[in-house]
Amino acid sequence: MKPIISPSLLSADFGNLERDITMINQSEADWLHLDIMDGVFVPNITFGMPVISAIKKISEKPLDVHLMITQPERYIADFKKAGADCLSVHWEASIHLHRTIHAIKNEDMLAGVALNPHTPVALLNDIIKDLDFVLIMSVNPGFGGQEFIERSYQRIQELKEIIIKNDSNALIEVDGGVNTENAEFLVKAGADILVAGNAIFKAENPLDAIYKLRNCLA
Ligand code: DX5
Ligand code: ZN
Repeated sequence: MKPIISPSLLSADFGNLERDITMINQSEADWLHLDIMDGVFVPNITFGMPVISAIKKISEKPLDVHLMITQPERYIADFKKAGADCLSVHWEASIHLHRTIHAIKNEDMLAGVALNPHTPVALLNDIIKDLDFVLIMSVNPGFGGQEFIERSYQRIQELKEIIIKNDSNALIEVDGGVNTENAEFLVKAGADILVAGNAIFKAENPLDAIYKLRNCLA
């Protein structure tokens, strides 16, 4: 099975967003990954609803919205209205995770939980059946272009075991430092969805980078 490719717009040229989104429309990418940061949960601030709504008008790919914000449950309906198709919240940021996940599903979005690199995957045991996907952070969230944390391979394998053991349909998304060198090994470890920012938008040929990621070619 080929992985779902979700280019992270964080590494695009924000002065030429329409051009970069049109490039993604013409590519083999499956989703478009949007990183929402609030300057509290992570030491960086990105963008919010007006920008997502504008992106929605241009993007032909489903919007995969990764919330790096505290108390994400406050804005679930707003993200749906802005155009999100998949919505992930951080385990570390939502106290009533079960309620949050079902609120996302009630808005007809795919519901995901994101884990920081230090958060044990075993903590998902009691919620894995409710999830459409798990986002394994393979860097500390906040910035694009960081180095992939090698321990992530083991975390993906452990998570895969938890998914199988619980008869869950959750997909595994990996985000941070993903590139054409490690894509093959991530998919072998159990990744279903690859997010890539720098490896796509800073590549000489982004369309070729997407093709290579999708076909696990170095
Ligand atoms: C980091 C974001 C990532 C980031 C990935 O907090 O969640 O989506 O854009 O960028 P790369 O692929 O460059 O590591
Ligand atoms: Zn992300």
